Amino acid sequence: MYRSHSCGELRAENTGTNVTLSGWVSKLRDKGFVVWVDLRDRYGITQLVFDEERSAADLLEKARSLGRETVIQVKGEVIERASKNPNIPTGEIEVLVKELNVLNQALLPPFTIEDETDGGEELRMQYRYLDIRRNPVKNNLIFRHKVTIAVRNYLSEQGFIEVETPYLIKSTPEGARDFLVPSRMNEGQFYALPQSPQTFKQLLMVGGMDKYFQIVKCFRDEDLRADRQPEFTQIDCEMAFVEQEDILSTFEGLTKHLLKTIRGVDIEKFPRMTYDEAMKRYGNDKPDIRFGMEFGELNSITQHKEFNVFNTAELVVGIAVPGGNSYTRKEIDKLIDWVKRPQIGAKGMVYCRCNEDGSFKSSVDKFYNQEDLAKWAAVTNAKPGDLILVLSGETNKTRTQLSALRMHLAQELGLRKPDEFAPLWVVDFPLLELDEETGTYHAMHHPFTSPKPGQLDLLDSRPGEVKANAYDLVLNGNEIGGGSIRIHDKETQAVMFKHLGFSPEEAKAQFGFLMDAFQYGAPPHGGIAFGLDRLVAILGGQETIRDFIAFPKNNSGRDVMIDAPATIDNEQLKELHLKLDL
Ligand code: AMO
Repeated sequence: MYRSHSCGELRAENTGTNVTLSGWVSKLRDKGFVVWVDLRDRYGITQLVFDEERSAADLLEKARSLGRETVIQVKGEVIERASKNPNIPTGEIEVLVKELNVLNQALLPPFTIEDETDGGEELRMQYRYLDIRRNPVKNNLIFRHKVTIAVRNYLSEQGFIEVETPYLIKSTPEGARDFLVPSRMNEGQFYALPQSPQTFKQLLMVGGMDKYFQIVKCFRDEDLRADRQPEFTQIDCEMAFVEQEDILSTFEGLTKHLLKTIRGVDIEKFPRMTYDEAMKRYGNDKPDIRFGMEFGELNSITQHKEFNVFNTAELVVGIAVPGGNSYTRKEIDKLIDWVKRPQIGAKGMVYCRCNEDGSFKSSVDKFYNQEDLAKWAAVTNAKPGDLILVLSGETNKTRTQLSALRMHLAQELGLRKPDEFAPLWVVDFPLLELDEETGTYHAMHHPFTSPKPGQLDLLDSRPGEVKANAYDLVLNGNEIGGGSIRIHDKETQAVMFKHLGFSPEEAKAQFGFLMDAFQYGAPPHGGIAFGLDRLVAILGGQETIRDFIAFPKNNSGRDVMIDAPATIDNEQLKELHLKLDL
C-alpha cells in the first residue's frame, strides 16, 4: 500500500495515528538538528518532520539529502505541531517520520512549482506536466471537471442522450479551414477533422434521437487568440420538434443551473437583444452588459456645422467614460494614440470634457457651442465629471473601433468584474454576411440555418437583410454559445446552397448525404453548441482558455511539449501517397 491518507487529509483529530503518505518533495528546511519536508500531492501539503532527538541518525541524513520533486513514501506518526500554520488545512499537525522510501528521483525542475512561479509561459508549456503540479493550473483542471460533470448531469436529467460522432469525416462548413488527414487506404483522398459535429447531430435528429448532446472535440484551422484554440471542446446539443423559444429556454436553464451550482449566483434576468440592437448600442454582437457606456449616435446633432470630418462620415458615435473628466491631457492623448494603432485603425478621436459645473470643453470648440455639446452629453448619457469620446467614419468600422475602446476603458476602469455575471441572448442574426473581398455572400452561422419565417423570398432581392433563426449566448462580453433552428426540407436547403454559390453538383458532392436524409422524414429541429473552454474560463472569472486546457497549443498552433506539428519521414509520406513539394 503506497498510502493510507492523502497529503491534504490529516487533521488534529488524527494525532497519534500511524500513517503512510506518498507524494513529491515540495520544500525542505534544514535547521541542522531538525529537518522539515513539505510533502505534496493533488490533495494538499503535509509537513513531515525528522529530528535528532526522535529520528535515527541515518534517517535524518537521508531526509536532508532529498532533492525537490523527489517522489517519496513515508511511514510515521501524526503529531501536533509546535507552531501551527492556519493557512493550510493540515496546518495543525505534522508527521514524525519513522521510515522513508525514495520511490523515484527527480531532476531539478526548470521552474519552481509554487503558486507564484519563476517560470515564463513558454517554459511552463514545455514542461506542462510540471505546471499541472502547481495549484493554479491543477485547480483550473479540477474546476473544468466540475463544470463538465454538472453539464452532463443536468442535460442527462433533462432527457438528453450523449452520442459520440466520428472524428474522421468530410468537411463541415463552420467558416474556418479544415485540418485534413490523408487516407492510406484511399489514395489521393482525405478525411477532414470536424469543425463541429453539425451535420451528424442533424442526422441524429432524422434518426429520431430527439434530444442529443455531446461533449466533443472540434478542430478549426484559424488564427489563434486568447479565446481560441485549434482544437477545443463544445457542449454540442440538438433537439427535434422545437422552435427557437424552446431552445432558448432549455439552455437558459442550463446556464442558470451552472451559475448557481458552480458559482452560487442566482440569475434572475436573462435579457435578449437583437443583433441590430447590439450593434447599434454596443458596436458588437457580443456586448458586455455588466456596465453601461452605451453608444450614442451623434449624426443628427453634429452634421450641421463646418466640421467636415463629421459631415462626411457615415456614422458619428460617442460614449461617455464615467469620471473621465479627471483624465489629464496626456492621458487623453494616450487614448487617441490607442485608437490610432493599426490594430484599431481610427484616424482620430474627438473628445468633450463634461465639467462638474455643467459646462463643456471639447477638442472641437471651434465648431460646436455649449448648447451643441449639451446635446452630445444627453445622447451619450454623460454626467458632469464624465468624458465623451467620439469616433466617426464608415458605420461598421467605426462601431468596431469604438467597441474596442469601450472594452479597453472598462478593463482599465475595473468595470469588468470577474465575479459578476451578465448573460445575454443575441437573436435575429443576419442569415448571410457579405465577404468584402470577394463580394459574395456566405452563411453567417452555417448553411443549415433557417431564415426567419417568410423571409426566404427576400433572398433574391435583398440578401443582406434576411434575418435568421440564429442566436448566440453571450456571457460577460464573450460568445460562449451559438446555434440556430435548422432548415429541415430539401427544397429550402437547395435554395440556401444556391445563394451561397454552390452549384447543384457541388452541393450534392459535399452535402448530398444530408439532402438525401431530409427526404426520409426529417423532423423540424434546432440546437446550439457552447464553447466549453470559454464557458469554464468565464465561470472561473478569467478569459484565457489556455489556462483551463490540460495540454493547450501556443499562439502558433504548436504543442511545444511534444513538439508538434512535426515532419514525417519519407516512408510514411509514401504510404500516404503524399509527395512534399516544398
Ligand atoms: P459555433 O461555430 O458558433 O457554432 O461554435 C460554438 C461555440 O464554440 C466556441 N468556439 C471556440 N472555442 C474555442 N476555440 C475556438 N477556435 C472556437 N470556435 C468556436 C464558441 C462558440 O460560440 N455547429 C454550430 C453550433 C450549432 O449551430 O448548433 C457551431 O459550431 O464559444
